[in-house]
Amino acid sequence: MKILAIETSCDETAISIIEAKRGGKTLTVLSNVVVSQIAVHKPYGGVFPMLAKREHAKNLVPVLETALRESESFLLRSKKLELPPAVEKELRSIFEREPELFEAFQEFLPTIKTPKIDAIAFTRGPGLPPALWVGVNFARALSTFWKIPLIPVNHMEGHMLSSLLKRSGNQKTEITEPAFPVVALLISGGHTEIVLSTGLFKYKNIGSTRDDAVGEAFDKAARILGLPYPGGPEISARAERFRKQGKHSSGLYTLPRPMIRSNDFDFSFSGIKTAVLYMVQKIPDLTEEIRDEICYEFEEAVTETLLSKTMRAAEKYVPRMVLLGGGVASNSHIQKAFKDAFLKNFPDAEVRIPENELSTDNALMIAFAGYMRCAHDEKSIIPAGSKKIKDIKADGNWGL
Ligand code: KG4
Ligand code: ZN
Repeated sequence: MKILAIETSCDETAISIIEAKRGGKTLTVLSNVVVSQIAVHKPYGGVFPMLAKREHAKNLVPVLETALRESESFLLRSKKLELPPAVEKELRSIFEREPELFEAFQEFLPTIKTPKIDAIAFTRGPGLPPALWVGVNFARALSTFWKIPLIPVNHMEGHMLSSLLKRSGNQKTEITEPAFPVVALLISGGHTEIVLSTGLFKYKNIGSTRDDAVGEAFDKAARILGLPYPGGPEISARAERFRKQGKHSSGLYTLPRPMIRSNDFDFSFSGIKTAVLYMVQKIPDLTEEIRDEICYEFEEAVTETLLSKTMRAAEKYVPRMVLLGGGVASNSHIQKAFKDAFLKNFPDAEVRIPENELSTDNALMIAFAGYMRCAHDEKSIIPAGSKKIKDIKADGNWGL
């Protein structure tokens, strides 16, 4: 089956097309297009939801065209199709709040032939509602126009499953079967949670942050230190530079490890961020060396906290696999700490970390989650033309 997936939950507009056989051990990535809005949001020091919505609306049609061309599913019609009035009316109502996207859709879609695609997967949540809605409506419109079924996908399920993929050749991607029980640590700009999975699509949230998400803490700490958005890669690079220079903590800039001893799987990151703020306010001359050391301390504190709570979960639930997912999982220090600690303390648990391009937001993980749903959970498929399509709603807080 061929699946086209759409991701617009935050600040990446992404479309991917994959081909997979039910129950197969590999899938073929026909296209994986990601357009990042980082440059647009940088001046604001974070993602600005209404701006994200506008950018998604601008990007979706060109990203679709690129994805179709890359996957060789792009075929021009000899003559632009006349939209039947009923279809036009339906599309107009779907795009009520995205008139400019409707315009681009009407310009482009009737000029190409319907691609051979079996289902359209799309991120329905969680994420920023204005951003999510653009992708949801685009998916509904494509389904209406092309008469292709829809699969709503949970963005966090995408992050969680992404570590099961290993891109081998150019397009070939190996799929590893999950071994249950699974303990997943999902760490992104909007989420920090530990999920226990005892079977396919069976999830229980066993811990989450009580305030800031860990990626958000990276971004806020970076801002306090005068570093650009997104803060994660910036802090990580400076911490790495500090380590590479063979330096050790001077003991002047220690940070707390909030809730590390609490008897649960929850996190709190706003305290570390505030500690960075108070620390920086007291430093008269914030040199590059001091900045690097604070980045190092920050990364150490966050890593220790994430690791200790995940190991606590591993002690209790004895997982066969520990899956990391989300943008923060691309942090190389966190990756190494997890691999080393689990190898030493839980050698029977396989730690899996997504490849970097699959850690941060992308549509390939949404396509894969959509494929898994198609293959193992048929009831999540919404047939083309179904009345249910009208009722699909983006859900900013959709839990696993
Ligand atoms: O999963 P993601 O791309 O988007 C959300 O769904 O939120 O995650 C983005 C977050 C940002 O907060 C960014 O600072 C963080 O991931 N991030 C990192 C690294 N790369 C991205 N955090 C720490 N270390 C990194 N190397
Ligand atoms: Zn994400």
